[in-house]
Amino acid sequence: MERSTVAAERFLNRKVLLGVTGGIAAYKTANLVRLLVKAGAEVQVVMTPAAHDFVTPLTLATLSKRPVLTDLFVRDGSGRWNDHVHLARWADVCIIAPASANTLGKMAHGLCDNLLLACVLSATCPVYLAPAMDLEMYRDPGTHANLAVLRQRGHKTIGPDSGELASGLSGEGRMSEPEAIVEQVSNDLLSSSKLNGVQLLITAGGTQEAIDPVRYIGNRSTGRMGFALAEAAAARGARVQLVAGPVHLSTDRPGITRTDVVSAQEMAEVCKRLSPQCKVVIMCAAVADYRPAKVAAVKIKKQAANLPIELEPTEDILAWMGAHKPPAQVLVGFALESDNALAHAQEKLLRKKADLLVLNSLQDAGAGFGHDTNRVTLLAPGTDPHDLPLMSKTEVAHAILDRIEELC
Ligand code: CTP
Repeated sequence: MERSTVAAERFLNRKVLLGVTGGIAAYKTANLVRLLVKAGAEVQVVMTPAAHDFVTPLTLATLSKRPVLTDLFVRDGSGRWNDHVHLARWADVCIIAPASANTLGKMAHGLCDNLLLACVLSATCPVYLAPAMDLEMYRDPGTHANLAVLRQRGHKTIGPDSGELASGLSGEGRMSEPEAIVEQVSNDLLSSSKLNGVQLLITAGGTQEAIDPVRYIGNRSTGRMGFALAEAAAARGARVQLVAGPVHLSTDRPGITRTDVVSAQEMAEVCKRLSPQCKVVIMCAAVADYRPAKVAAVKIKKQAANLPIELEPTEDILAWMGAHKPPAQVLVGFALESDNALAHAQEKLLRKKADLLVLNSLQDAGAGFGHDTNRVTLLAPGTDPHDLPLMSKTEVAHAILDRIEELC
């Protein structure tokens, strides 16, 4: 397979924070941005002030199709600032190319006197460094000690290569070629996720069951957990079919195809159509268990007497998926239980023939509907329940996907 094809598949849906520091090799970064964008990545360039002396923000902004960021504070009197924490959390991977001796030194000592350093210090994603400097600067024991510290902290280095340097000297210190950087990062990402290129079906949100043209029976699900799962899976290179009930959420991450539905029946129809092609099916939606047996054709008028509404069961989509599961498919269900939670969830796992059941806690403050955080227990047949701590829904999503990767 051609090298560029491998990279194209690999960076699809990936968010790359590309740091550029002050060094002559910054001219190569323009090509690196081009290659990453061509490979499907969303690239946010963050330059140090010194990098502006070597390559223009206009070049990198044009190639990355996003404004380049340099300053922590937007000095236009508006009080706006570039949120390094948000940027760091946004990124799936951070690449600093070129990484100057000065930036390496500051990173090794935990300094953050510019936006790029503040982002790197806040990053939880893998950080790659492509050092570039002159021969003696690279040979200097201080530079080597800084690189050793950074490697020990888990940062990965790419290069430097040997060859002709800007000074005219020849030796180690050349920034690795952009193709090699793309290749190494993409290979790491490729080997790190079993979900790369895999089709996933995820349901999210609640359903609404019509009583009449105006009223419905619904629930408090916001869809946040399902959307967090969809985004986290897409970040791992999965092709996600997201089937969403009525929610106030949006996602613009490439790799997610969204189908909006309203009722349990519509959700069932879409899921049955999409699931045979999917290797992983995650039923995160809070599907109504009952719907009005008759939907009034016109708005029901208020009356003095009680208004009984007869409810009939909806189809259990997860149970249908369990009964029609292709052999290699991984089926994941969710459960929300108020009493005897573990026993009920274990029974649900077996009854619905799921491979994994995510039990939502109703006991913890900060967990469940309407929160940004969640606390869940993972149940799989034949294994002990695995309690996860209270985490952000994105972190919970990644923990669930880690478990799914083990099952794949
Ligand atoms: N589910 C579904 N279709 C339904 C109802 C639920 O696919 N009509 C799925 C949910 O998406 C979730 C799981 O089933 O993954 C658990 O739903 P829950 O309502 O808790 O389970 P029930 O089997 O309905 O049990 P009970 O309401 O008695 O707890």
